[in-house]
Amino acid sequence: MTSQIIPVDPFDFIIFGGTGDLSERKLLPALYHRQRDHQFSEPTRIIGASRTKMDDKEFRAFAKKAISDHVKPEYIEEKELATFLDRMSYVTIDAKSGDGFEALKKSLADSKRIRVFYLAVAPSLFGDISDNLKAHKLVTTDSRIVVEKPIGRDLESARALNDIIGDDFGEHQIFRIDHYLGKETVQNLMALRFANALYEPLWNSAHIDHVQITVAETVGLEDRVTYYDKAGALRDMVQNHMLQLLCLVAMEAPASMEANAVRDEKLKVLNALKRVNGNEAPKQTVRGQYRAGASAGGPVKGYVEELGADSNTETFVAIKAEIANWRWAGVPFYLRTGKRLASRVSEIVIEFKPIPHSIFGESAGPIFNNQLVIRLQPDEGVKQYIMIKDPGPGGMRLRQIPLDMSFAQSFDGRAPDAYERLIMDVVRGNQTLFMRRDEVEAAWKWIDPIQNAWDGSRQEAQGYTAGTWGPSASIALIERDGRTWHESN
Ligand code: BG6
Repeated sequence: MTSQIIPVDPFDFIIFGGTGDLSERKLLPALYHRQRDHQFSEPTRIIGASRTKMDDKEFRAFAKKAISDHVKPEYIEEKELATFLDRMSYVTIDAKSGDGFEALKKSLADSKRIRVFYLAVAPSLFGDISDNLKAHKLVTTDSRIVVEKPIGRDLESARALNDIIGDDFGEHQIFRIDHYLGKETVQNLMALRFANALYEPLWNSAHIDHVQITVAETVGLEDRVTYYDKAGALRDMVQNHMLQLLCLVAMEAPASMEANAVRDEKLKVLNALKRVNGNEAPKQTVRGQYRAGASAGGPVKGYVEELGADSNTETFVAIKAEIANWRWAGVPFYLRTGKRLASRVSEIVIEFKPIPHSIFGESAGPIFNNQLVIRLQPDEGVKQYIMIKDPGPGGMRLRQIPLDMSFAQSFDGRAPDAYERLIMDVVRGNQTLFMRRDEVEAAWKWIDPIQNAWDGSRQEAQGYTAGTWGPSASIALIERDGRTWHESN
């Protein structure tokens, strides 16, 4: 049975950076899909805003191309697209000087309509845009502001940014997006944990040996020279996506899916993370940077060559994290993420403890720990690895097999992009899948000491060949504890 689609109230969706990369690749296609899925009510409007001089017609042409480049042809219907483009208009705006905000105001006549101000721009403009929206009296009761990561580059700058936006908008109007929370399998993690009686009694240090979280990418720097070299993998991936995943695995059951119920529980996990300071950092963290190698069957340059400048920025991080609370004491969470790795795969592995005693002789073969593998991408799904008897004659021989729930095989239909769900939640005013201010700051409190330890020791990022699984130190990090990374392929 499919659930009924309830359209949201009409809204004005204003994209700052409307002609930029995020708008083109993610926001416009996501909005198109949700219109096609009958989630819009009329009159809903989409307004592009950026410094580029353009008129409505040109913006519509830009949007049309974005849809044809980033939406699968089978979903593009002429009538649907025409309706979509009819919603569009454009305002040239200068975030710094404030030019164009009055024009924007005029195009938003009805102050009762829901307004979404989506800041798909460099974080350095967040404060100016937010202040200008306030100064030009564009912030109504039903307005929301959406900000993309990075929220700051450390605790201090994150606080400063949160203060500025917090002066203009109430916390209930601020949507700090982490697109990982919009991924279907990430939400499925909550379903798996809290809609099944099976796992929760085992979900603790008495039964779980350790947890692994891997977010591996094959892409390199991808034209993001200015941003990435100043950020590095710790700020770009661990501070947000990886820690959010860790929170969803580790949190206590919230009383409901209500936004603050969920976010309170995540915050407790972040606050319980053991600080990794200068003494522990060399033992518990690995930072790497890719060198020339091969990716997707062809040769690729090293990071420094791609960047065109010398740099010690990390493109790979592995961390042994620990959560100091009753549920998780003694259960390491191994995190690793990197660019130009052997394959694109994101997954969470929950490894259970060994059986206490084997009744089988040596001829039965090894008995592997049970593993629950939650695959976020690609080929989303959940695998529960168990031991079984190998069928047929030859005595009791044991074998590990996965109980395999692949999304593609179990469900028909289109796999929605993370942004679709998140955008509609913004319109609905549902903050469950967005980061609250204190969460972002608690995450920085854990990240800052690691970054400081690295900066202080002037330790070079360790080289790894593009197309491999990162520096050998990452393998040593987990093998020292008698464990191995789950082989992802
Ligand atoms: C972004 C990071 O937040 O997430 C990028 O800034 C990264 O560096 C991207 O490539 C990965 O997202 P996804 O959805 O492709 O796994």
